[in-house]
Amino acid sequence: MFKHHIFICTQSKPPMVPSCGGTGSAEILDMFRKEVFNAGLEKDVMVSSSGCVGLCTRGANVIVYPSGKWYTAVKAEEVKKIVDEHIVAGNVVENRNDPVEDTLKMEAAMFQQRIKSMMADAGRL
Ligand code: FES
Repeated sequence: MFKHHIFICTQSKPPMVPSCGGTGSAEILDMFRKEVFNAGLEKDVMVSSSGCVGLCTRGANVIVYPSGKWYTAVKAEEVKKIVDEHIVAGNVVENRNDPVEDTLKMEAAMFQQRIKSMMADAGRL
């Protein structure tokens, strides 16, 4: 069982459409893997790419479980800090401009509603 699972959204969308992929999240994914290896935690920490999590204008989005912390607008230069503080030391990185939980939930719910509408329009719901 892994102690942490780090998801990095690497979804790309067409030009002019906000996406995590457009913010360089593939590089951020590689950096998380590198930092986890450098910390010797590869047996305890899984790093995975994910598809869109619905906060596309806030990319790159990184979600860490089991805490469920969403880091938004993550930059490459923050990866080591997140690994050192959150994964190694066990403290969620504070003093970021991450939206409050209610805002995250509201934006994610709006995304889910758009998906639901698209599925209904396509006759798949
Ligand atoms: S593209 Fe990453 S949240 Fe949508």
